[in-house]
Amino acid sequence: MKKRSFSSLLAVLVFLTAAVVATNGQVKKGKTRPLTTEQLMEAIVKPHMTALKKGLIDAKPASDDDWKHLALSVSLLNESSFIMMEDGRCPDQVWADACVKDLREGSAMAAEAIAKRDVEAALAGVKKLGASCKACHTKHKE
Ligand code: HEC
Repeated sequence: MKKRSFSSLLAVLVFLTAAVVATNGQVKKGKTRPLTTEQLMEAIVKPHMTALKKGLIDAKPASDDDWKHLALSVSLLNESSFIMMEDGRCPDQVWADACVKDLREGSAMAAEAIAKRDVEAALAGVKKLGASCKACHTKHKE
């Protein structure tokens, strides 16, 4: 009896360890593609979030080129919300909501506003997509 409960305890521990490892794997990298979450953040998410803040908050867009760059940044942020939901990356509902409800919907709103050259509406979209960073990082970034 004692021996049996010890081995079931051991089985539970092995299972939990495997689950934790699997979860970490999903958060930091997809299952098959080489791109890590850190690379995605460093190369796409962070620089394009910074570009949106600089181009809409620190200064107002003036030239055609300014609007073109804003459109590029917001589209890449939108695209990153799809990358982060693919290849078995998504570990839970917090991640999914941050990606889909905040990052994807917010960037789609901002993209529409940027196409119409509406600064106020673009800022509202950026605020919504910006909420995704904190929502996901609070739970998933060490
Ligand atoms: C769905 C989850 C999720 C969302 C949304 C998200 N991040 Fe991240 N981010 C992570 C995770 C997980 C890490 C940690 C990656 C690691 O250390 O392996 C991270 C790391 C980072 C880092 C550190 C990268 C490095 O060099 O170590 C930066 C900067 C960053 N995120 C910026 C942002 C910004 C800005 C946003 C919002 C526009 C954002 N992230 C949205 C999950 C997310």
